[in-house]
Amino acid sequence: CGIVGYIGKQQASNILVEGLSKLEYRGYDSAGVAILENDNLDVRKYKGRLAVLQENLEKVPVKGNIGIGHTRWATHGEPSDVNSHPHANNSGNIAVVHNGIIENYIEIKERLIMNGYKFLSETDTEVVAHLVDMYYEGDLIDAVQKAVKDLEGAYALGVINKENPDKLIAVRKDSPLIIGIGEDENFIASDIPAVLKYTRKIFIMEDGEMAIVKENDITLMKTDGTPVEKEVYTVNWDVEAAEKGGYDHFMLKEIYEQPKAVKDTLSPRLNRHNEIKLDDISLTKEDLERFNQVYIIACGTAYHAGLLGKSLIQKYVNVPVIAEVGSEFRYNDPFIDEKSLMIVVSQSGETADTLAALRMAKERGARTLAVTNVVGSTISREADDVFYTWAGPEIAVASTKAYTTQLVSLALIALDMANKKGTISKEKFNELIEELRATPAQIEEILKMDESIKDVAKVITKAEHIFYIGRGIDYDVAREGSLKLKEISYIHSEAMAAGELKHGTIALIEDGTPVIALATQDRLYDKTVSNIKEVNARGAKIISLAKAKNTEISKSSDHVMYIPDISDDLSPILSVVPLQILAYHVATLRGADVDKPRNLAKSVTVE
Ligand code: G6P
Repeated sequence: CGIVGYIGKQQASNILVEGLSKLEYRGYDSAGVAILENDNLDVRKYKGRLAVLQENLEKVPVKGNIGIGHTRWATHGEPSDVNSHPHANNSGNIAVVHNGIIENYIEIKERLIMNGYKFLSETDTEVVAHLVDMYYEGDLIDAVQKAVKDLEGAYALGVINKENPDKLIAVRKDSPLIIGIGEDENFIASDIPAVLKYTRKIFIMEDGEMAIVKENDITLMKTDGTPVEKEVYTVNWDVEAAEKGGYDHFMLKEIYEQPKAVKDTLSPRLNRHNEIKLDDISLTKEDLERFNQVYIIACGTAYHAGLLGKSLIQKYVNVPVIAEVGSEFRYNDPFIDEKSLMIVVSQSGETADTLAALRMAKERGARTLAVTNVVGSTISREADDVFYTWAGPEIAVASTKAYTTQLVSLALIALDMANKKGTISKEKFNELIEELRATPAQIEEILKMDESIKDVAKVITKAEHIFYIGRGIDYDVAREGSLKLKEISYIHSEAMAAGELKHGTIALIEDGTPVIALATQDRLYDKTVSNIKEVNARGAKIISLAKAKNTEISKSSDHVMYIPDISDDLSPILSVVPLQILAYHVATLRGADVDKPRNLAKSVTVE
């Protein structure tokens, strides 16, 4: 979910809707605002896209210079008008927006019901409105402080009250929250793009902190009332960076931004002498020698990037690596202690499952390193070391440039570790660095294949099932390619280890079933080609992905997508790009809303 709030001299409704449009990537199954004017607190909230709310506000405008807004991704209670935020207390003079989950809401709800409160929605959030009401004795700040004391779980909250038309209150615990500092106006929001049109000056809130936001004043304190001092963070990226910039979709724009994103991530860390300068990471040779295992934990696309990190670290740093998804890690009784290093990978830096794994690792004394794209995100603040992927804001739900920059980041980290630990030869090190440097231009080459990949897409748009196969690192990329396709085109697709097909999945291959076969690994090439022939013989339509030198693969394929030559180790940085483009075209040809696929959210801050 995303929250936003405004107080100032302008009409709050316009600013809230504008802000929410920048937060829709956080969830978009319903949206609402609560706006205060004189003695009127007007709450408008609707199931559906933001456009539904917007239309209502255009038809029946609501005036007022203070308000809060919300865009929802349902957790407790289905998407519906009543379950949408803001939620109000029974007398309708307090309104609350919330991002996160109140874990003990049932308990609180029972207590409130015994005290005569009536609940309208099935959400966990509604308890907050009633709690504030229960504690309110004329001092809103005091009431909010008492209310949050009762709450367990994660929340970023925005609260307004009819009797306090000079302030809005924001509180943060485990859900992102920023305060935008304007002139004669101030803002709250879940994320910076929501306020960037109005200000570049930001306070990044920490857990357990609250802000009393007035038109000309912002007071920061802990929720126990202790004053807090904070530096102003000045945003140096552009509003346009968060806009589509001429492309039909954010996803396509972000695919095309990859040469730059990869370069931006690499260049500041490499000097002319092929030395890696990772000022951001404080791990020493001694630390590296102490670790007897490395965990790589992430979710979704970031997990797929983590799989390459696993291969590289295991191969070049000589240490066992376990890569696991965040939602499984904690429940698998992990063997993790002070001799472990945990690397978490997260574009947003807010993914709840990844964050929980990080916290568990820290509790057990492990050293932690985060690879993330968002400065000031929770994960970036909690990990011992942070390595930023300088991909710039990624808006499309389907992750593209975050993935490629995660790949190069993990490659840099692995090479730096190997170099420090002395487990890689100088020649190999230099060779891989040179290869990394070449990737932005090589991605540029692949982007030129856009039209021909679109022709391939046309062949598979009507498919019901698609299989991606590959061996080794190709299998890791196959998983990402398959995820890209299924999440935006809604075609059922699965990635299989090519050698494992014969143990079951091959039964599903029929005449015309599309199989996307990745064969970019030199050392596994012949074996993969054999697997291609196996499915070909059963009638599959083969779309291969191979290095440019391996043209003979066209004999056993219906279509081939070629990538420039690169070592097996780093091939994913190139091989994923045609798969992203393919997924994009299949989805748009099917008329799907690629930037906002159904049921998905960009940032998943619930477990
Ligand atoms: C969501 C997004 C995915 C993303 C995953 C992990 O599911 O839709 O694109 O890969 O979360 O997000 P993170 O921000 O931790 O990389």
